[in-house]
Amino acid sequence: MTKIKFEPTTNNVGCYVFTDLKSLNKTQLGEIKESLNKFGVLFFKNQNLNPSEYIKFSSFFGTPAKYPMLKPHKDYKDIYVIERKKTDLGKSFGEGPHTDSSYLNSPPRYTFLQAINVPEVGKGNTMFYNQFLAYEALPKDMKDKIRDLRGVFSSQGKIAQTRVLREAEHGTSGIKEIKSKHKLVQSIDGRKTIYSSPGHIVGIIDFHSNQDELINFLSAHQTKKKFSYSFAWSKGDIAVWSNRCMLHAATAFNGDRKMFRITIQ
Ligand SMILES: [Fe+2]
Repeated sequence: MTKIKFEPTTNNVGCYVFTDLKSLNKTQLGEIKESLNKFGVLFFKNQNLNPSEYIKFSSFFGTPAKYPMLKPHKDYKDIYVIERKKTDLGKSFGEGPHTDSSYLNSPPRYTFLQAINVPEVGKGNTMFYNQFLAYEALPKDMKDKIRDLRGVFSSQGKIAQTRVLREAEHGTSGIKEIKSKHKLVQSIDGRKTIYSSPGHIVGIIDFHSNQDELINFLSAHQTKKKFSYSFAWSKGDIAVWSNRCMLHAATAFNGDRKMFRITIQ
């Protein structure tokens, strides 16, 4: 059995994992899960999983979740198709930093993306922003200030405009606005992380100073270049991230792209 090779990205924002996902044993799956919680996002290049193998791999991390805003793939209910065509106008789905479905009471813990069809390498990258690193770098007075605060997150936050086009194409479940509240500081295995989704946050509970000022400060801090990594997709690649410690954003591009998305509760 060949050993899995783990190679952290620049800035330690995430980690590349070199292995064949078709032939993993239980110990190796455990190693991958451990590194996901440590790095927040993992990248698997040159994979060749069919939909059933992809669902099987992602299910090792938990139960596939429903995405309330889009309809699933017609043959695989756990897969949601994120597609952009050369002729599409306007923003890409998920453009603007966010963490998935933070407007739900229990947002999905992990999100998987698989590249089915992509434009040339370097176009349509996904940006990642590590929130363990962002938390560590906060000034002490800011850590104290946000320690017990809870944010209000809405499905109609800033990022909603990028979803409207996709809903028009793939159908929506008809749900209008969903809102939820979450602590702005959370911890995973004892490590603290900023949990705020710039694309969804619309307010802060019982915070009587200037809310916009704090939200803008946090959003700008969370997405600083030193906490970020831009992942370039090739066909067959898979990325998985933890929504509790990683923000992500689609980048603007024109071209044909098709991705399969699975979220895990
Ligand atoms: Fe997303």
